[in-house]
Amino acid sequence: MLEVLVTGGAGFIGSNFVHYALATHPDWRVTTLDKLTYAGRLENLQDVLDDPRHSFVRGDIADAAVAGRLVERSDVVVHFAAETHVDRSIQGAADFIQTDVVGTYVLLEAARRAPHLQRFIQISTDEVYGSVLQGSSRETDELKPRNPYAASKAGADRLAYSFWATHGVPVCIARPSNNYGPYQFPEKVIPLFITNALDNLPLPLYGDGLHVRDWLHVLDDCRALDLIIESGVNGEVYNIGGGNEVKNLDLTRRILDLTERPASLIAPVRDRPGHDRRYSLDTTKLRALGWEPQIAFADGLRETVQWYRANEWWWRPIKQSNAEFQSYYTAQYGERLRPS
Ligand code: NAD
Ligand code: DAU
Repeated sequence: MLEVLVTGGAGFIGSNFVHYALATHPDWRVTTLDKLTYAGRLENLQDVLDDPRHSFVRGDIADAAVAGRLVERSDVVVHFAAETHVDRSIQGAADFIQTDVVGTYVLLEAARRAPHLQRFIQISTDEVYGSVLQGSSRETDELKPRNPYAASKAGADRLAYSFWATHGVPVCIARPSNNYGPYQFPEKVIPLFITNALDNLPLPLYGDGLHVRDWLHVLDDCRALDLIIESGVNGEVYNIGGGNEVKNLDLTRRILDLTERPASLIAPVRDRPGHDRRYSLDTTKLRALGWEPQIAFADGLRETVQWYRANEWWWRPIKQSNAEFQSYYTAQYGERLRPS
């Protein structure tokens, strides 16, 4: 059996990856390490909590004792755990530096001592390249992160690389573009706009709405990560991009079409400070390993809307009775959405 440690496995991509891994690899035993922050939801893993090939540990990646115990017995570490929301990093960056940088450092120190570790997958992000007005980012491009979240991820990305270059830790770095799909926390634009539309609430579109994101279905991301575990080269970086560059305004219109709601729900609001205009990834390197996205954006978005329609039990308690979310929402949107 291959011992696979998934950090952040109760979050959006992590929980999709845990499900994918257990379904795809009968010879993997998966341990999820997750602190269960506001974004970590045990219900994301409810159907695998009793699986004999899966165990769940609640803990902090920055806790050297827990990280050491779990990393040292692992063959593969897939490190998703992070603070992930750009708007929250603008409200305050301390948790981002603590988890994304210091937490990653603690895991890497543990990885140095792990006797049979074959792979440490550092989940980075396309945001490390900064705003890309023309062309597409290649893995060798300069990193120019422009918000505190992206900067903390760039720090972790280069720290992981340094532990390969200096200490020989078997690190591969993945830089995915914007993921979408089931179990995404409703602070991110797609689930926020779907669930607001279903409730006939305004969709707060930042600035002129012409910012571009490259959408990647979470299952295509999981397949790419699996391939990197299998065939990646240590010390290398792999972009994972969906090839679906969409302006936010067009995305919003599609969501309104799919939810059968009127354009009058679009609420242009004050922009995000330092809002990156566009991300775009060159995925030649990953495609050479044999990966290509399988889920067309139109299908993936329709199915995602359908998932949120069918799973109100999952998001409604977060949006309607979770005090932490409500306080975040008020801080982020209260003034933006107030009629002038
Ligand atoms: P998420 O916010 O949904 O989940 C993050 C998970 O990490 C949560 O379960 C949370 O409880 C856990 N966590 C946070 N701090 C922790 C700590 N100190 N110790 C242990 N667990 C902790 O995030 P996501 O969207 O699933 O993103 C996963 C990873 O992928 C992150 O590293 C993120 O930077 C990266 N990424 C995300 C996207 C995207 O579009 N969502 C794109 C590119 C890269
Ligand atoms: O690109 C990868 C990154 O994608 C990941 O590394 C991050 O973890 C993930 O959160 C995501 O970051 P973004 O900032 O791109 O995602 P978000 O869903 O917050 O915003 C997507 C776009 O939508 C962005 O241009 C801002 C805009 N937006 C977002 C929100 C929440 C709005 O117009 N209104 C909103 O209310």
